[in-house]
Amino acid sequence: MAVQPANNPVAYLNGQYLPLEEARISPMDRGFLFGDGVYEVIPCYNGKLFRLEQHIQRLIRSLDAIQLPSPHSLSEWCDLLDGLVLRNDSGHQSLYVQVTRGAPPLRDHRFPTDCPATVFVLSQTLEDPDARSLDAEAGIRCISTTDIRWDRCDIKAVSLLANVLLRHEARLAGCDEAILVRDGFVMEGSTSNVFIVRQGAILTPPLGPAILGGITRDLIIELANRHGLPLQEVAIPVAQLEQADEVWISSSTRGARPVVMLDGKPVGDGRPGALWRRMAEYYAALRRELMGVGHF
Ligand SMILES: Cc1ncc(COP(=O)(O)O)c(C=O)c1O
Repeated sequence: MAVQPANNPVAYLNGQYLPLEEARISPMDRGFLFGDGVYEVIPCYNGKLFRLEQHIQRLIRSLDAIQLPSPHSLSEWCDLLDGLVLRNDSGHQSLYVQVTRGAPPLRDHRFPTDCPATVFVLSQTLEDPDARSLDAEAGIRCISTTDIRWDRCDIKAVSLLANVLLRHEARLAGCDEAILVRDGFVMEGSTSNVFIVRQGAILTPPLGPAILGGITRDLIIELANRHGLPLQEVAIPVAQLEQADEVWISSSTRGARPVVMLDGKPVGDGRPGALWRRMAEYYAALRRELMGVGHF
């Protein structure tokens, strides 16, 4: 099997592994026309997909939610994705998996009949998690802003226009991420989940239709439980965000990152907090144990 270098990645499209530059999707694809599809992003360290089953289970849940039968079983998905990792160079990559409701001959809002789903998987190079030491973590800047998204943010849908606009709003303000507020309560980031530290406890908004059940969020909850750190899934009024001792965001490709500036004001003392540091160490230790990478 030929292994492609990272600058010429192999992709997967509808049953075939092929160089990314040769992959072609019809303009009739409903992902393109309607954003009618779902996706996953799965990190891969040292050639091993991290939390693969959890990601596939979430993909299957997203597909169920949009009434699109999964084109593959759990084990078929795992084989397909492992096959793509093997064909791509280097250990660290992230897989972007997209499934849409296919490319029927007519543009029509109604679900097509007899139209196979489009399955596309892209491999992108992922930053080496060892490249930046925890001591060198400077933290990120965020804005808080109104959540303009729809009412089913628990579905990992490809229609991400609102998230794109929100992330751009953060960028225009010189920030990395937008923390979204709905009816006076913190929801999540435009591309991440949110945690705050208040009175020694870690708080994160509860699951529901307004946020995505992040795989990293689950992992952080699991690690907090395992190591006896107090963590509660509770509604967070925006005033608690503004007064938090620490704020973190989490996602599969970034892990847990400390927020040091929110709306132009320092969070806590303006440096990554002690509880973030402990969580990041637990996270790195777990990754190292499972994948052979991590700090220290
Ligand atoms: C809106 C949103 N919330 C949360 C997350 C974090 O999810 P995960 O930890 O599974 O990457 C993401 C990741 O892309 C996201 O886009």
